[in-house]
Amino acid sequence: MTAGANRVVAIYIAITPNGMIAKRDDNTTWISEIEWGMFSRFVNDHGNMVIGKRTYEILVANDEFKRPELGSIRTVVLSDTRIDVHDPTHVSIAYSPGEALSQLEEFATVVIAGGGNMNSSFMREGLVDELFLDIEPIVFGSGIRVFDDADFEVNLELVDVHRYAQNGVQLHYRVKRT
Ligand SMILES: NC(=O)c1ccc[n+]([C@@H]2O[C@H](COP(=O)([O-])OP(=O)(O)OC[C@H]3O[C@@H](n4cnc5c(N)ncnc54)[C@H](OP(=O)(O)O)[C@@H]3O)[C@@H](O)[C@H]2O)c1
Repeated sequence: MTAGANRVVAIYIAITPNGMIAKRDDNTTWISEIEWGMFSRFVNDHGNMVIGKRTYEILVANDEFKRPELGSIRTVVLSDTRIDVHDPTHVSIAYSPGEALSQLEEFATVVIAGGGNMNSSFMREGLVDELFLDIEPIVFGSGIRVFDDADFEVNLELVDVHRYAQNGVQLHYRVKRT
């Protein structure tokens, strides 16, 4: 399956300038409130998100789905295994990136919201159209990267640059299709 002509599949993620999305122990407390606000507005504007199983488990453990910003978002969790979700009305499991997109057919924009392992799965299958990278002002040397090791390469065109805070910049890229 490839991204349909009328649908946009967009990765939205907070990263460090060296491409990390979490510390080695999954710590993301370095992500600013302003960035969290931008992310939650983005998913609310589009009404959906796809996340990897590890990210899902962390969000549940931290009660993040109890936040009004995430509570009613149509969420698809990518996993190879059958797991019980906390809220079957809003949350479902998909066993492949293509199945995740099929489950979200009614949405004009599908939001791919991490983590790094799942982001790579979508990139490897050529399913990503756009990237929104919110670059937060911190660098650490080890952790989870925005893209796990995987065999893919894409060229990007820069759509927009937005300075959302004194020290925060959003890069919006579109994947070049040849
Ligand atoms: N900075 C940010 O904005 C941001 C955003 C999101 C997450 N994060 C952080 O990222 C970290 C988690 O990232 P991660 O890379 O460790 O894990 P992840 O991508 O959240 O989840 C990985 C899991 O997703 C499933 N998966 C991935 N590709 C799949 C495919 N093609 N088919 C079926 N299942 C697939 C697998 O689940 P199974 O093992 O069940 O097969 C895999 O183990 C956490 O620390 C989280 O806080 C940061």
